[in-house]
Amino acid sequence: MLATLLSATLVALDGRVIRVEVDVAPGLPGFTIVGLGDASIREARERVRGALRNSGFMHPPRRITVNLAPADVPKTGSGADLAIAIGILIGSEQFTARAGRAALIGEVSLGGEIRPVPGLLPMVAALARRGVRRVIVPADGADEARLVGGLEVVPADTVTDAVEALRLRHRAAPTPPARVELALGGSASTAPAGPILADPAPIPDLSEVRGQMEARRALEVALAGGHGFLMIGPPGTGKTMLARTIPALLPQLSGEQALAATIVASVSGEGPLHALVRTPPFRSPHHTSSYAAIVGGGRGPVPGEVTRADGGVLFLDELAEFSRDVLEALRQPLEDGRVSIARASGSATLPARFQLVAATNPCPCGHYGDEGRCQCAQGVPERYVGRISGPLRDRIDIWVTLARMKAATLVGGPDPEPSSAVAARIAAARARQLGRPGNRLNSRVSGRALRAIAHLESVTSRRLSDLADSEHLSGRGTERLLRVARTVADLAGSDSVEIEHLEEAARWRPPSSNPPVALAV
Ligand SMILES: Nc1ncnc2c1ncn2[C@@H]1O[C@H](COP(=O)(O)OP(=O)(O)O)[C@@H](O)[C@H]1O
Ligand SMILES: [Mg+2]
Repeated sequence: MLATLLSATLVALDGRVIRVEVDVAPGLPGFTIVGLGDASIREARERVRGALRNSGFMHPPRRITVNLAPADVPKTGSGADLAIAIGILIGSEQFTARAGRAALIGEVSLGGEIRPVPGLLPMVAALARRGVRRVIVPADGADEARLVGGLEVVPADTVTDAVEALRLRHRAAPTPPARVELALGGSASTAPAGPILADPAPIPDLSEVRGQMEARRALEVALAGGHGFLMIGPPGTGKTMLARTIPALLPQLSGEQALAATIVASVSGEGPLHALVRTPPFRSPHHTSSYAAIVGGGRGPVPGEVTRADGGVLFLDELAEFSRDVLEALRQPLEDGRVSIARASGSATLPARFQLVAATNPCPCGHYGDEGRCQCAQGVPERYVGRISGPLRDRIDIWVTLARMKAATLVGGPDPEPSSAVAARIAAARARQLGRPGNRLNSRVSGRALRAIAHLESVTSRRLSDLADSEHLSGRGTERLLRVARTVADLAGSDSVEIEHLEEAARWRPPSSNPPVALAV
């Protein structure tokens, strides 16, 4: 007989409801799945067969046809396994259920356990929008599913649990066989192969960072306004350390932003999640990460680092070491806050609105500017920093140079300010910006709006023109200067941009040709 159940799949970051129709008919034994499924769905046959047998049910020796509808939605992943398994049990009359009232999501193992799948949150949300009142999910994913209100979440560890939850009459009370540990996991999860991340060290506090006052200040301004930020300096000057303080400097996410970050985390396979993600993303992919790991791709497609950094910070350490392809691919997200991923079945667009933070040595050996220590051939340092060109250069509002520190700075001196104090100023400056009409950070306001919110007096306006002339700034360069100055003014609690704000912002221009060199302090 025919059984029809509801389940869900993912299309990019969206959940889509699918109907799983299972027909168990007389005829030659066989098991076919149709309806635009990918390889992991075809492999569902093997998982489901094992799961039923090892749960004490029968895999009926009949002609089983599974149709996944609607036909125009591509189905990926293993989340429909459970619905297929239950459909076979109902179709072969091994039990009767009011299954039409519930939906099921979960991958099954050969042993009959139900496993979590990436993207549970948006899939359950799609079911709730469709009016489904009850959903059976992997027990580990129950907290994540419950983040969606308005429907009953039933956790199930095994296929047997799911049957119990659905059953009206139990015909053949199954006795689970002794559990067999199978070498084959049968998993075809769509979880991304994790990108290569730099070591996940704990978040350092700014009170541990000594000296580097200019870079600390520039970082504060960059985070306050969401500006693209680049640190240039020899190895061991604290560039990576400074960047790693960022997660404790940014305000927590609220409402919509938290939900968006949670959906991205869920689809990226970070789950099962137990609460909304409130910490802004801080992603630091290694410079050897592949194009697909950064941009996203594959089935689904799986979000890349640019999407996983959405609403937070993408930190590219050793920026000049990233492949040219990857640097080039950052252009679109930096300009539109989105990334398009080409796939066989057309292209998908994912959100990718991140703040770029980057660090680089001034040259391949790192010692450019250190008297006599640079090993690089003539012209090499120029070409090195020159790789940060075009669109990337245009999107970095703040360039700061770090110098090697004198030993006295590292050991002596007053205790540096802690992260909490800096975070409070950043939060206040952001609140000022978001309180203005349009509620955007300064890095995101349009050029025209920027002029309006700068409130320049004529004398300040003249100073801006003078700075633009003396530094040979393009129109875009001038606008960037004003943008950063607006943030400096917001940190100072000033409604108008004043000359001192412009002058501070002007310290952080991109270098003209040679890599910049800072004197040891
Ligand atoms: N300004 C600093 N204050 C305190 N420690 C520092 C500083 N700069 C470097 N260090 C120490 O040196 C180590 C390496 O610094 P790191 O941030 O990796 O340098 P970079 O990224 O510039 O090469 C840090 O883990 C820290 O122990
Ligand atoms: Mg470093």
